[in-house]
Amino acid sequence: MTNGSTILVTGGAGFIGSHTCLALLDYGYEVVVVDNHDNSSPMALERVRKLAGRPLTAYDVDMRNRDALDGVFAAHPVEAVIHFAARKAVGESMRMPLAYYDTNVGGTATLLRVMAAYGVQKMIFSSSCSIYGNALRLPLDEDSPARPTNPYARSKWICEQLMADACVANPKLSVIALRYFNPIGAHPSGELGEDPKSVPNNLMPYLAQVAIGRLDKVTVFGADYPTPDGTCVRDYIHVVDLADGHRLAIEHLTDETGLRVLNLGTGVGVSVLELVTAFGEVCGTPLPHRIAARRPGDVPELVADSRRVERAWGWRTTRDIAVMCTDAWRFQQLNPTGYGS
Ligand SMILES: NC(=O)c1ccc[n+]([C@@H]2O[C@H](COP(=O)([O-])OP(=O)(O)OC[C@H]3O[C@@H](n4cnc5c(N)ncnc54)[C@H](O)[C@@H]3O)[C@@H](O)[C@H]2O)c1
Repeated sequence: MTNGSTILVTGGAGFIGSHTCLALLDYGYEVVVVDNHDNSSPMALERVRKLAGRPLTAYDVDMRNRDALDGVFAAHPVEAVIHFAARKAVGESMRMPLAYYDTNVGGTATLLRVMAAYGVQKMIFSSSCSIYGNALRLPLDEDSPARPTNPYARSKWICEQLMADACVANPKLSVIALRYFNPIGAHPSGELGEDPKSVPNNLMPYLAQVAIGRLDKVTVFGADYPTPDGTCVRDYIHVVDLADGHRLAIEHLTDETGLRVLNLGTGVGVSVLELVTAFGEVCGTPLPHRIAARRPGDVPELVADSRRVERAWGWRTTRDIAVMCTDAWRFQQLNPTGYGS
């Protein structure tokens, strides 16, 4: 793939999508976004255009609307797709599993069918470390068994199998499923960041909203896990490192066909309480927190073995927890009510 190629980014207005669109524009790609703004603001894309100093075309389209997707592919010479659009809240997926299968699995199937109709053979898929579920051993490499513990994680696992089947049926198809660990942080400009539409389900935007005074205190779900301080341990990765991983993945789509699965993480485990403390240090005041019961669907520890992607592409992360907290806090301070939506 060369610079100047057109990349279709579904869910491009979202947290990871917006940072990735910026990385692609900075590398000279043309970017077309499809997003129904179920969990994002069009303002994020305005910011991407401003930071890149280049145009980006966006469509307010639902992934499940095949006719509308058709229209987008008909209007642009799409060479590859990065598929972020999905519902992503574990707790919500326990309450409304069908909505998760509909958007995440149905949306992916619809996308692959439209890609096939237009002869588009390259895709990068947002998969998740949640697929591993209750880890049998750590760190988790890509051959670790899939043991998803909630409908969200299962929807991602089903998508991986669906894409594997699609690759068997179409030997020209090249799909890279990137299993992200826990993306946090924000663009260093403070212009792009995570701005969930409702009360945050993820820890970092929750911390930031407590620090800015929008929420009272941090709720820590479970302090009786078999981890050093009893709280869940995750592998946090800076969203800009993650965006760069996608930019690199685009370059490697032509290496081979079929489905490839790669972890994107740092290999460093950080507990919930350690992250609460790290954020407090960055914003200059300890964050009040309370311990609550475990959340259904959560698992004690998820830490990546990312050696496969390092060996294959030479990719590794460069930003640590302090940078992740500093950048997220900058975004929150400059945008106390997020994108204002
Ligand atoms: N953030 C994480 O912790 C994490 C971890 C692992 C994997 N992922 C995956 O990465 C992807 C991006 O995550 P994110 O954190 O940027 O989430 P996000 O919610 O910020 O972005 C998702 C985007 O998809 C859009 N969208 C949702 N349903 C849609 C539909 N039916 N049609 C069109 N657009 C739709 C939303 O409006 C949003 O802009 C998701 O697939 C998610 O499952 C995220």
